[in-house]
Amino acid sequence: MSGTAKAGGTGGLGGAGASGATGSPGGAQGTPPPCTGASPASPATAASPATAGLPASAAEVRAMHRAVELAAANLGVTTPNPTVGCVILDRSGAVVGEGRHEFAGGPHAEVVALRRAGRAAFAGTAVVTLEPCNHHGRTGPCAQALRAAGIRRVVYAVADPTANASGGAESLRAAGISVTGGVLAESARRANRFWLHAVERRRPYITWKFGATLDGRVAAADRSSRWITGEESRRDAHELRARHDAVLVGAGTVRADDPHLGLRHGVTGRAPVRVVLAGDPASLPARARIWDDSAPTVLLSCDQAAGGHLPDRVHQVTVPAGADGRPDVTAALAELSARGVHSLLLEGGPTVAGAFLRAGAVDEVVGYLAPLLLGAGPAALADAGVATLADGIRLDLLSTRTLGRDLRLNALLRGTDTGRDDGHDTHTDTHTHTDTDTRRGAPCA
Ligand SMILES: NC(=O)c1ccc[n+]([C@@H]2O[C@H](COP(=O)([O-])OP(=O)(O)OC[C@H]3O[C@@H](n4cnc5c(N)ncnc54)[C@H](OP(=O)(O)O)[C@@H]3O)[C@@H](O)[C@H]2O)c1
Repeated sequence: MSGTAKAGGTGGLGGAGASGATGSPGGAQGTPPPCTGASPASPATAASPATAGLPASAAEVRAMHRAVELAAANLGVTTPNPTVGCVILDRSGAVVGEGRHEFAGGPHAEVVALRRAGRAAFAGTAVVTLEPCNHHGRTGPCAQALRAAGIRRVVYAVADPTANASGGAESLRAAGISVTGGVLAESARRANRFWLHAVERRRPYITWKFGATLDGRVAAADRSSRWITGEESRRDAHELRARHDAVLVGAGTVRADDPHLGLRHGVTGRAPVRVVLAGDPASLPARARIWDDSAPTVLLSCDQAAGGHLPDRVHQVTVPAGADGRPDVTAALAELSARGVHSLLLEGGPTVAGAFLRAGAVDEVVGYLAPLLLGAGPAALADAGVATLADGIRLDLLSTRTLGRDLRLNALLRGTDTGRDDGHDTHTDTHTHTDTDTRRGAPCA
């Protein structure tokens, strides 16, 4: 795998090819699957219809599914590094080791998997989600480790796009090792979408998350908004937070809701950097939960002086104004990128959501819809620059799931090119629940 991303660390804030068989979970949440020394042996079999035409055996494709699963489980926790999974097959095609990259500075997935495989790796195959790196970062080159272990074949999913780490496949081929790239590339890209987006597009991957009533309201007419969705949805949303480097709201949400934006509901992990986008910092309260010291807070505005009443610990960054006199979204994102933010969870209200969509700065949407009607109050999305139905922002549905009494919808903006699950049916996350399941959900409070 690649070493540290060129996009840099979290400094300053403290804080293509073939596709194939059925989908594996990209962007998994919750408890990562166990990363054991060796999973039950899965010997090579004749190519199934699902793998026919792939330059990889059935055992290799199965191993790649597992490697993608390992990588996806660590999405968002390896910043500034990519998340990578690796499975080692012995010469008969049986799984003898697996590993994933756990944290920046820690051993790369290939090294972990080789250690677990031990001598069984000799003359075997390494199946890895990202092209093995070829450079000396904080750890040695994986291409060299694979050669030293006597690996005879390497199957990878996604070529390393960074100049300093690429070339691993070439160096392996030069050493006489058989190398195939592009296997389950779409799934592997999705599993590693934050890092790939940051290095390829030079801006964070942005997930817009909201909780709304069935008629699309995110607050009532009197602005009360706690709680529209149930406990299960809120817990899931906190898991999303734990996966993202930063979480952003507009000044309107700070004024209306006094959000804290930390991790609760039993979700643990690294609390994201909190970001407030303000047109008029003077209107922000001097005392608010978001200014506490539980995680870094960044205030992005056009006028730092107007935020002089805020606590010193708030990291104030000046951003040029856009046409409407408010902070320009693209410039604000460049500031976050420069500070090592690879992924951003947009949790703002309708105004900021509209500004981000107008700027083309949303990649994915997670909406929690509660079986509740209000008939009045702000809608989830304000002006997004859409005047007529034909201009509506169409999304590709990735999954639907019931969470307690709520419905969770996950969709991709068209043009988001950091992968989606390979497979015959991309709605891999869709569950059908019985009425009994739905009634058991926590009530909306
Ligand atoms: N259910 C949910 O998921 C959810 C989530 C968040 C909020 N809400 C609800 O949404 C309501 C607040 O809505 P809101 O629209 O005011 O919140 P918002 O979108 O979070 O904040 C809007 C404010 O952001 C600031 N801003 C900074 N740069 C901007 C830019 N480039 N474009 C647009 N705005 C920019 C402006 O502040 P200045 O006024 O300082 O110029 C603007 O008034 C509350 O009732 C809250 O409960 C619901």
